[in-house]
Amino acid sequence: MKLVNINKSYGALKVLENFNMNFEEGEITCLLGPSGCGKTTVLNVISRLTDFEGEIKEPADKISYIFQTQRLLPNLTVYGNLDFVLQGAEKDKAIRRQKIYDILSAVELDSWKDAYPGQLSGGMAQRVALARAFVYPSTLLLMDEPFKELDISLKKRLVAVFLKLWAKDKRTVVFVTHDIDEALLLADNITLLSHKAKILHTHKIDLPQAQRQLSDDILITIRKDIYKNFD
Ligand SMILES: Nc1ncnc2c1ncn2[C@@H]1O[C@H](COP(=O)(O)OP(=O)(O)OP(=O)(O)O)[C@@H](O)[C@H]1O
Ligand SMILES: [Mg+2]
Repeated sequence: MKLVNINKSYGALKVLENFNMNFEEGEITCLLGPSGCGKTTVLNVISRLTDFEGEIKEPADKISYIFQTQRLLPNLTVYGNLDFVLQGAEKDKAIRRQKIYDILSAVELDSWKDAYPGQLSGGMAQRVALARAFVYPSTLLLMDEPFKELDISLKKRLVAVFLKLWAKDKRTVVFVTHDIDEALLLADNITLLSHKAKILHTHKIDLPQAQRQLSDDILITIRKDIYKNFD
């Protein structure tokens, strides 16, 4: 997928100005940049939730989007929220049930399938959002800070769950975070943005995610480079 000469304004506020970026198929691209620089706007352009000028070449046909503020349907259970999106892609109810059980087990929420979103903690709701995004057979997954507000141990487990789900079912992923370590562990490519989504730098990480440790020399070097850009 390629974003070509994208321009986006909200009234007088120009957010994207001739923005160009390529996303490699089956790879995880991370957008890292200060608050308000336009990261969510880029995801909203890709998903066409917002109008814009410019062109998206080789667009994805099926998109899952984990929003920055989670948007589970409050009147449906956890199971119901997953079934709601899967129905569009899978007509067989028994197959849907198996897929939903498998994914809920992967995010450690098997016993919460009948709970309503209002009964979940923030971290649990984020896990449901992750499960819902994966249960739908999308070719492109957009994630806007999906691991925020989780305790460190849950975050570590969930990042591992995400990588396991992704390795089994590789999709193109565009992933927004403020957390450099998260980006270093997950991304094939990290794109650093500054104000008005100006691209400062792109780092490619040539190391399989499953083998990465934050103490790896290659990741330490990239982290230093990233920090330099924020001086
Ligand atoms: N619907 C909207 N109407 C008007 N202005 C908006 C709207 N959405 C975003 N903006 C503005 O566009 C700019 C970019 O916003 P965006 O949400 O893309 O930033 P972000 O990089 O995702 O920030 P954060 O890291 O805080 O989520 C900000 O100045 C914001 O105020
Ligand atoms: Mg945002």
